[in-house]
Amino acid sequence: MSFFTYLRHAILCIIAILKPSVSLNLSIISFTEAFSPLYGNQNVIPSNDGNSVQISMNQWLTSGSGFVSQYAYNHGFFIASIKLPNNTYTAGVVATFYAQNNDSNRDEIDFEFLGHIEGEGWILQTNLYGNGSIHKGREERYRLPFDPSKDFHDYGILWTTNRVIFFVDECAIREVVNVKEMGGDFPSKPMYMYGTMWDGSDWATHDGKYRVDFEYGGFDTEYTRFVMDGCRVDSFFQPECYADIPSGINATERTRMDVYRGQYMIYSYCLDTDRYPISLPECEVIDEDMQPISAPIGAPPNMVSGASRRFR
Ligand SMILES: *[C@@H]1O[C@H](CO)[C@@H](O)[C@H](O)[C@H]1NC(C)=O
Ligand SMILES: *[C@@H]1O[C@H](CO)[C@@H](O)[C@H](O)[C@H]1NC(C)=O
Ligand SMILES: *[C@@H]1O[C@H](CO)[C@@H](O)[C@H](O)[C@H]1NC(C)=O
Ligand SMILES: *[C@@H]1O[C@H](CO)[C@@H](O)[C@H](O)[C@H]1NC(C)=O
Ligand SMILES: *[C@@H]1O[C@H](CO)[C@@H](O)[C@H](O)[C@H]1NC(C)=O
Repeated sequence: MSFFTYLRHAILCIIAILKPSVSLNLSIISFTEAFSPLYGNQNVIPSNDGNSVQISMNQWLTSGSGFVSQYAYNHGFFIASIKLPNNTYTAGVVATFYAQNNDSNRDEIDFEFLGHIEGEGWILQTNLYGNGSIHKGREERYRLPFDPSKDFHDYGILWTTNRVIFFVDECAIREVVNVKEMGGDFPSKPMYMYGTMWDGSDWATHDGKYRVDFEYGGFDTEYTRFVMDGCRVDSFFQPECYADIPSGINATERTRMDVYRGQYMIYSYCLDTDRYPISLPECEVIDEDMQPISAPIGAPPNMVSGASRRFR
């Protein structure tokens, strides 16, 4: 890809992040309708109208807090608009939005935000497990083209039988295709959705070199504008299953994804030869999507604050 083609796609992706969606008809559901507190309940504080929630981790509740969906879902499109703690130092703090079940062969699809030391920014990690493959982490990490503690941004998980796609605002950032090489390691059983904060001091920031420090205050994460357009497994009649969810992304969006990955991805399990001297089988198959495309070196573009709402 030439530099100018690259630049054009990079700009397209940034425009896509900022422009409201016209193509998707997703339904917003309130926090109280969809979720219940899970732990650290006194630090799970819904807004007065019940639409949003703030969860915290502080010196009085050092293990953090979290919430879980009232129902399990079998596939769907799940989005939360999230604003991360804006403390100058958040090392060791982990904030999440993820899908998981309690099965002995667990499935899981994760967004995990990893706290930072002063002068650095939040790192976003994605991961997934299928059918109990918890000894085979498939992590990727990215910088973000904006400060996620300044404004709300949408983080979406599209989960179908064929693929899992992670979105940041309008932009797909990772696609995991259910290729046969993955064996049974693709999430396939109904899962609950969670939002949590917890102490990941041992690993989250610079491999555990910097730990949670409450001298910097309590850490608050806000979640709002939830989309839970999935098939609820409990319901007899399942109108949610016919929600207008995309089946995947098209070639233009995939190009934007590759540009995003080229510019912001800082870690992929597929490229970690220390950890996986023999890379996991799907890394060979979907090499093209896994390899960051070559990108010009430079600072991330300045993102204007107050990003527009993405969904109706
Ligand atoms: C969006 O969905 C709502 C209800 O789910 C429906 O009433 C409306 O017609 C849909 N709009 C479009 C443009 O499809
Ligand atoms: C930090 O976040 C809190 C909670 O969302 C907010 O009340 C405060 O104004 C923010 N401070 C700055 C400097 O953005
Ligand atoms: C998962 O299992 C644990 C332990 O058995 C239980 O406390 C928890 O409520 C379960 N969670 C869900 C969402 O079913
Ligand atoms: C899931 O794991 C179990 C236990 O290891 C195994 O018996 C089963 O075949 C696996 N399922 C799939 C779909 O691979
Ligand atoms: C690809 O998908 C995007 C987002 O849904 C849409 O705006 C665009 O028109 C699509 N492009 C093509 C060529 O279908």
